[in-house]
Amino acid sequence: MSKQIALDYAEHTAWLLDSALKDAERYRRIAADLVEPGDRRAADIGCGGGGMAVALAGRVAQVVAFDSDPAVLDAARAYAAQCGADLAFALGDIDSGTDALIAALGGPVDLMWAGHVVHHAVDQQAALGALVSALAPGGRLALAEGGIGARVLPWDVGVGRPGLQARLEAAGSERMIAENRERGAVPMPYGWTAALERAGLTEIRTLNEFIDRPAPLTGGTLNEALENLEARVGWFADFLDEDDKAAWKTLLDPESQDWLGRRHDLHHLEVRSIHLGRRPEA
Ligand SMILES: C[S@@+](CC[C@H](N)C(=O)[O-])C[C@H]1O[C@@H](n2cnc3c(N)ncnc32)[C@H](O)[C@@H]1O
Repeated sequence: MSKQIALDYAEHTAWLLDSALKDAERYRRIAADLVEPGDRRAADIGCGGGGMAVALAGRVAQVVAFDSDPAVLDAARAYAAQCGADLAFALGDIDSGTDALIAALGGPVDLMWAGHVVHHAVDQQAALGALVSALAPGGRLALAEGGIGARVLPWDVGVGRPGLQARLEAAGSERMIAENRERGAVPMPYGWTAALERAGLTEIRTLNEFIDRPAPLTGGTLNEALENLEARVGWFADFLDEDDKAAWKTLLDPESQDWLGRRHDLHHLEVRSIHLGRRPEA
């Protein structure tokens, strides 16, 4: 039997929780910027560890954390309890259409955050249509998608063939193509801002946040960069050749002389994009 390509997020709850925790300050900052006076209800779609839902709690009267995976929702529930955040939780699928989505959310929302989830939809444009339909008139959708993944390594690290980082990114792209083929995804051959426009939003814009940590990385920033690499090597392993897999194994092994953690030339450069749009009032 062939191996399933789509990630099973129930197996990654620890990673999702860790991301929510690590990005807590960032989520708080973004939530403060996104909430407008008069907002009453917000939703975190594909909430994962619940990082944004927790950040929005207390800023509006009700926040719904929505995800398709019961184990992920349980993890988000535990994180919210730990943070003392009062959230509602909804199990649902962004591919299930407008009515199911609105019912799961308990009605329209003024602010919707969808972080790295819409690219998992079978029909991304249809899913965006459903999300927009679940917005109250004047409500906003904030879509965290795209950007540029973390670049950490010099081109030649002296282990394996130079260009390891570029081939890791290419493997991620191949994995996504295979996942889309596996679930019969509808192609969306245009960018996120065009997709928001087609979904009927106005005032579309993109906020790009540049993570700029020059070499040398030390302490927490070094750990974060290594964890980021390790996670991606794990997810994309089936799309790397044997030589690259062996090189990554050595580089990510703290027992190895070539462990990346011993280097002083790692950097963390990344762009995180948030695409925003507003549902017209009428
Ligand atoms: C890459 S994680 C992102 C988690 C979090 N939003 C973040 O940015 O860190 C994707 C999340 O979306 C959920 N998900 C995947 N497909 C979904 C779908 N069709 N409908 C709803 N949630 C989905 C997964 O269970 C997972 O929690």
